[in-house]
Amino acid sequence: MSNFLDEVHNGLSGKVKKLNPKWLYDFNGSKLFEEITKLQEYYVTRTEIGILEKNKSEIANLIGEKATVIEPGAGESKKISIFLKSLIEPKCYVPSDISKKYIKKIGKKLKKKLPKIKVNPVVDDFTSKKRINNKILKNKNIVVFFPGSTIGNFEKREAIHFLKNIKLKYKPKKIIIGVDLIKKKSVLLKAYNDKKGITARFNKNLLKRINKELKANFDIKSFKHSAIYNKSKSRIEMHLISLKNQKVKVHNKNFHFKKGETIHTESSHKYSPKSFNQLAKKSGWKVKKIWTDLNRQFSIQYLI
Ligand SMILES: C[S@@+](CC[C@H](N)C(=O)[O-])C[C@H]1O[C@@H](n2cnc3c(N)ncnc32)[C@H](O)[C@@H]1O
Repeated sequence: MSNFLDEVHNGLSGKVKKLNPKWLYDFNGSKLFEEITKLQEYYVTRTEIGILEKNKSEIANLIGEKATVIEPGAGESKKISIFLKSLIEPKCYVPSDISKKYIKKIGKKLKKKLPKIKVNPVVDDFTSKKRINNKILKNKNIVVFFPGSTIGNFEKREAIHFLKNIKLKYKPKKIIIGVDLIKKKSVLLKAYNDKKGITARFNKNLLKRINKELKANFDIKSFKHSAIYNKSKSRIEMHLISLKNQKVKVHNKNFHFKKGETIHTESSHKYSPKSFNQLAKKSGWKVKKIWTDLNRQFSIQYLI
């Protein structure tokens, strides 16, 4: 809680107002993200699932026998069950997420759905250095499964730091990672500005959360969702735009917004196979295999 307050105070104090995307995911945020994954415009989830379905046996063979699969930022853990059944005698599945109430709910559901596999849900910030339970880390065949292009939410230097840190945090020998690819701007803009307005609700939910948890008084209606493509950084940026000059109080501090000023709430970086290869290399990993869909919209990559 105090961590959240400090980060919000710092994020709103800078010249450019910016908040860490991890705060988008309280229980409501996680449920809204689940809705986003089902949207027609949001090609990410169905494309990644298609790639996993098509290549599940090959992926299972690369993972090998008696694996412990750790999934940081697991959310609803939708994708793991696709190849968990193809794995040879998997030991354990560890879905981990910052969204406490949500991952507990998902954990219960998974234990019922996968009775033959030990499911061990963990509440954790995947950027922290804190190791997870030592018993889990004893297995020699640990695999990190990191789908959904969550890697794209990091700035590039943070992504390198994350990929280096997970070597110490989870002790994996292998990573299976979903990486969204650079594509036509119109496809990207549609995906993050859906017609039903679910992405807008997901974005604005952050202000609701701040109001609820940090005694703030954001007038939600006077902020507008915006998602733009920043070509020079190959990324979609989500912002909340202030529709008027206004003052907002968060706990004991006031923040001033000019009309048109934004809070940058999330980035989703897009990569080419080459640019992700370079990023992996800088992080001490080697890309051994890439699977994509026919339109080369999305990729799943195998790193060792
Ligand atoms: C883009 S969603 C992807 C969800 C899911 N893995 C998928 O493939 O659809 C990002 C997920 O990471 C979680 N998350 C975001 N920041 C996190 C952090 N710092 N530590 C742990 N989980 C985090 C969110 O709660 C959310 O479930």
